[in-house]
Amino acid sequence: MSEFIRCDRTVAWSALAGHFEAHGRDLDLREAFGRDPGRFASFAVEAPEVFADLSKNRWDLATRKLLVELARECRLEMRRDALLAGEPINVTEGRAVLHTALRAPRGQGPFSDEVHAVLDAMLAYAERVRDVARSGIRDIVNIGIGGSDLGPQMAVAALESHVHPQLRFHFVSNVDGHDLAPVLARVEPRSTLFIIASKTFTTQETMANAQVARAWFLQGWGAGGEAAIARHFAGTTTNVDAAAAFGIDTTFGFWDWVGGRYSLWSAIGLPIAIAIGAQAFRELLAGAHAMDRHFAQAPLERNLPALLGLLDVWYRNFHGFTSRSVAPYHQGLRRLPAYLQQLEMESNGKRVDLEGAVLPYATSPVVWGEPGTNGQHAYFQMLHQGTDVIPVEFIAVKRPSHHHADLHAKLLANCLAQGQALMQGKTEAQALGESAPTASKSLDKSVIAKHRTFPGNRPSTTFVLDQLTPRSLGALIALYEHRVFTSGALWGINSFDQWGVELGKALCNDLLPRLASGDAQGLDGSTAGLLARLRA
Ligand code: F6P
Repeated sequence: MSEFIRCDRTVAWSALAGHFEAHGRDLDLREAFGRDPGRFASFAVEAPEVFADLSKNRWDLATRKLLVELARECRLEMRRDALLAGEPINVTEGRAVLHTALRAPRGQGPFSDEVHAVLDAMLAYAERVRDVARSGIRDIVNIGIGGSDLGPQMAVAALESHVHPQLRFHFVSNVDGHDLAPVLARVEPRSTLFIIASKTFTTQETMANAQVARAWFLQGWGAGGEAAIARHFAGTTTNVDAAAAFGIDTTFGFWDWVGGRYSLWSAIGLPIAIAIGAQAFRELLAGAHAMDRHFAQAPLERNLPALLGLLDVWYRNFHGFTSRSVAPYHQGLRRLPAYLQQLEMESNGKRVDLEGAVLPYATSPVVWGEPGTNGQHAYFQMLHQGTDVIPVEFIAVKRPSHHHADLHAKLLANCLAQGQALMQGKTEAQALGESAPTASKSLDKSVIAKHRTFPGNRPSTTFVLDQLTPRSLGALIALYEHRVFTSGALWGINSFDQWGVELGKALCNDLLPRLASGDAQGLDGSTAGLLARLRA
């Protein structure tokens, strides 16, 4: 931990504070483009599978230079190398953080033999399941939560056009029976494979759902059901013994150096492998590996994950922006915002530094979003005219996997238009000069114009993917992982633990028997009142 240098204790931090006052707070994107015809090119970054336009962000070349200096002062490159080398950078749990090893080619990267042995076995199993004539499997039910759900669910949706046409995928996460019951109502024991996905194999929700699924299966199967469990239940976990105790023979393991929210590349990716097949799963890994190489090798000035993480620090700590909206203009990426919420907010939603000191600055922004164009007809109003400035991240995909070229052109035009509108805005004079046929005739035109004014100068980033493929999806996800690492490293926090989820779990264990008994002793007044209400 001797190399740990917190961002606010650097020379660059003070320089950035001065720069923000002089040129940052009031930077106007419209003027910046007017001054510099080369701005788009200056802020365009090419990374594997992902092109990024960072020019519509409220920074200039001097800001970028100072942010890169900040990264160097905080020894970002050294910390990145420590991550990739498998040093125990998750200090509060004494663990390495090696999701990158899961996508390193055979013979490269730490633990290569173990990683590739499990990968080969898992992919061979996936291919057997995909042979539906032989396996008889038609429905895959993944039971898991958090990282054991969001990654596979997001990726299977994203890669829909690559998914085996005779297989249906169901993802059950919530301990709410409204999640599991409708799935069980739609599937048959003899044609269903349950995957019990849990790094720890102790998570309350997953274990409870798995028990219900098991009982349903045994009841539906009839005689011989116990023996059939071996063919219809598989486990993906680091806790192979617990899976065996549950009665699962087919288990694909992984290791404590794979964080839950970084685990889709491990055995937790089994539903993805069954959905898209072994070859495509290897492509997903290869795309992520290409982004790992970019992060490891590209100079910081052209290193896309590093630049995004630096921009996040600039926005959070200098501009004071509290959230970031993600707008994927691809329906397949509809679960990406939810996936990114766990990735970023569980990683960087921390309030003490690596030495336990309470931080004097803000960390993770709120990450949220919906696919475009749906979001445009819901919350984009606030993005354009609300009182908060919320940077937006657009993801555009050049070539669709359908043949409706007219729909795709409209989708892309909408995506470009939103970034343009956020930046350009509309002055009161422009609004006054326009006709507004739906506006009230009884209000003064100047008042209507005020309502129809857009401040503009609202920042956005646009990523362009050529096509949404296993490879480009892998690269995109790895890009986000390394971006989160970068901001976390600068903030001097541990991005790889999640102690904040523990307290609620413990209190739930205390409350569960009280719901049955009604015992409210020692509870606060509100919880006691609600308990009584729920029991009445
Ligand atoms: O409670 C939070 C968490 O530990 C996440 O970090 C994790 O992805 C999720 O729960 C599920 O954990 P597991 O895979 O061990 O069931």
